[in-house]
Amino acid sequence: MRRPLVAGNWKLNGSRASNRALLEGLTAGLAGLSTEVMACPPYVYLAEAVATAEDSGLLIGAQDVAEQASGAYTGEVSAAMLRDVGCTHVIVGHSERRTLFGDTDERVAAKFSAAKAAGLVPVLCVGESLAEREAGTTEAVVARQVAAVLDAVGPQGLDGAILAYEPVWAIGTGRTASPEQAQAVHRGIRDQLAAADARIGTETRILYGGSVKGANAAELFAMQDIDGGLIGGASLDAQEFLTICQAAAGRDS
Ligand code: 13P
Repeated sequence: MRRPLVAGNWKLNGSRASNRALLEGLTAGLAGLSTEVMACPPYVYLAEAVATAEDSGLLIGAQDVAEQASGAYTGEVSAAMLRDVGCTHVIVGHSERRTLFGDTDERVAAKFSAAKAAGLVPVLCVGESLAEREAGTTEAVVARQVAAVLDAVGPQGLDGAILAYEPVWAIGTGRTASPEQAQAVHRGIRDQLAAADARIGTETRILYGGSVKGANAAELFAMQDIDGGLIGGASLDAQEFLTICQAAAGRDS
């Protein structure tokens, strides 16, 4: 059984004060939830978030990571630094990094490898644009993005990693993929992983992201291959996010 995970990607939002309030709201509501729950604040707040989350069970992840380990790379943050401040997870390949900041499949694979090498759990995001969906290339695009990492690290390199399917057209638009649309892509990803290694295919958790809210989470998480969510806007409201976490916990029972 894959344990459900709900992760909040806070993106470029918040302040020290608002983060603290949000984290306190989250940790207060976590007790007894069977799902894993994670928050991914901006870099500068990570150390404080780790301290605030201490002993609550809330996982703290970063939103991105350098592909390099150290050196003359102004502005970058390494995987070892993220580990050093207590992060356990890191998102790599988010579509905003891919489309706005030029992260190629190869760079995403390098970031994935850097995370693994430092002992972080990578959360690998994949997903097609609206034009790609309309052109009927969703499966091919997602398969290419997954293959870039599989080729770089091998099937065993995916062991313990998390995938997230986030159709670009559903991110921040209020337009979510239908449960059936999402399930079809998740199934395809799982089949691709299983073809490389049966156990990795069965065990890897695949999250859905893109306009998930309290009101639509349960129907998405009811699908066989949707193991939780990667949440943007709705993760900035503790009550809304906890409602999503409860929907994921319901999947377990
Ligand atoms: P929204 O939930 O705001 O659509 O964002 C999804 C996302 O990009 C999470 O990484």
